[in-house]
Amino acid sequence: ATIHDQKLHRGKGGELHQFAEDGHDVLTTAQGAPVDDDQNTLRVGARGPALIEDFHFREKIFHFDHERIPERVVHARGYGAHGFFETYEPLARYTKADFLQRAGEKTPAFVRFSTVAGSKGSVDLARDVRGFAVKLYTREGNWDLVGNNIPVFFIQDAIKFPDVIHAVKPEPDRGFPQAQSAHDNFWDFISLTPESMHMVMWVMSDGAIPRSFRFMEGFGVHTFRFVNAKDESTFVKFHWKPKLGLQSVVWNEAVKINGADPDFHRRDLWQAIQSGNFPEWELCVQLFDEDFADSFDFDVLDPTKIVPEEILPVQPIGRLVLDRMPENFFAETEQVAFMTQNVPPGIGFSNDPLLQGRNFSYLDTQLKRLGSTNFTHLPINAPKCPFHTFQQDGHMAMRNPAGRVNYQPNSWGEGPRESPVSGYRHFPSDEAGQKVRLRPESFADHYSQARQFFISQTPPEQRHIAMALTFELSKVETPAIRERMVSHLLNIDETLADKVASALGLAKMPKPADAAVGPRQDLKPSPALSIMEN
Ligand code: HEM
Repeated sequence: ATIHDQKLHRGKGGELHQFAEDGHDVLTTAQGAPVDDDQNTLRVGARGPALIEDFHFREKIFHFDHERIPERVVHARGYGAHGFFETYEPLARYTKADFLQRAGEKTPAFVRFSTVAGSKGSVDLARDVRGFAVKLYTREGNWDLVGNNIPVFFIQDAIKFPDVIHAVKPEPDRGFPQAQSAHDNFWDFISLTPESMHMVMWVMSDGAIPRSFRFMEGFGVHTFRFVNAKDESTFVKFHWKPKLGLQSVVWNEAVKINGADPDFHRRDLWQAIQSGNFPEWELCVQLFDEDFADSFDFDVLDPTKIVPEEILPVQPIGRLVLDRMPENFFAETEQVAFMTQNVPPGIGFSNDPLLQGRNFSYLDTQLKRLGSTNFTHLPINAPKCPFHTFQQDGHMAMRNPAGRVNYQPNSWGEGPRESPVSGYRHFPSDEAGQKVRLRPESFADHYSQARQFFISQTPPEQRHIAMALTFELSKVETPAIRERMVSHLLNIDETLADKVASALGLAKMPKPADAAVGPRQDLKPSPALSIMEN
């Protein structure tokens, strides 16, 4: 159709609508100019050179050339969905977080599941940690619980994050392997990092190859704080429990599925939600005070440790339902920016050194990835409550302060003001000490919980762990690394170490690794703080 064939109609506001012959909207440039021919570049004669004057061609190719943005430096491959969080009971006794004050209240949510190590185009069923990042659009700003499906982490201090990620990602000279931990660099780093042993047991377990996102747990990992209206703080650990229970595949199945359908997890979530089969998780908490925390053998600030559920049962406080797929994958799932530092009043941080480092990293990385300080202007990232800042300008500013005032205090009676009453107050914990780079003694036991995890597994699950370790370490070409790993396993479980050593054909058993802190006394159950006593 040429421009002359179009029918022009005026809308209610007098605006001009153009329809092509067949009733479709007319294709336009991004500047709104109607396009007459989208099949041929403008040229001198049918067989002549192309003309730079062809602004439609140049704009189209220019925009296409810039379609890619950097993939996430970790968790590059992910899949998201919208839904809601529904509060079960008021939690005012522990937290002033507004969205936890009224039973039955629904808060809009966006969730992104991911693998950690693989690139954006990698396979879904890699043996890997899964990200479980939740954004709740509360009436007091966004709360991002940026968690994983494993309750502990590889490292105790954020300063080691680039090292562990470099080690797991493709080796710099050869550029592979893409998405799996089975290589020398990864196992070299791990075997030199005893604090990672607990996490490694989880990663070698069935939980690292979930059947689908719908059958996995999520964990906030760190100890957080709830803070109530009286400024009293309670430590809290967050858990997402899937209503469908836990299911995994075994390695042989994963390999076949990856070959036949690398999008297996994406397809599963898409199909479930599109067919009205909405996946659901309960948000559960473990609540404890300073005294209870001090009674543990481990440090609640150490992200390589769990608070065992047998000692402190989890209590459900609400449910998350995913009931709507994004309309556009890039606009929503790719551009969503999760940040641990996004917390509403009533939720705060502990001194976990991993969490403290994350609180810097996520803001920094969003600028790199999304390219502008104004990434909060994107609809997926913008709060859904009223918000007013004096921030202005920058690339792609969609919102600037209205009127004359872009600062405060001011004499014009305009603009937002801070509020000591309703504003976010950081919990005034007592802090003192020397300025040092020092790992606390309380972070020193790297084996007890690894052992407890292994023992808690059923015999088939234990077999799978032994098989996974054997498979992974059999891909390691450097004998010293294999031996070093077995020397750690000796501190976790001797039978496991024996099995792996003989399957690998180790000539002789190495000595147990140093740094072993002897078996700790059994942890004793203690009364949980009940959310029912509200
Ligand atoms: C991304 C979880 C530790 C830096 C993510 C994502 C999750 C996650 C789920 C993906 C978010 C999404 O779906 O968009 C965790 C957990 C950790 C942890 C549970 C430990 C308990 C760290 C540390 C750092 C870090 C220690 C840095 C110091 C990043 C960065 C991204 C990321 C830079 C990419 C963010 C983006 O581009 O959107 N993390 N992470 N993470 N994480 Fe972590």
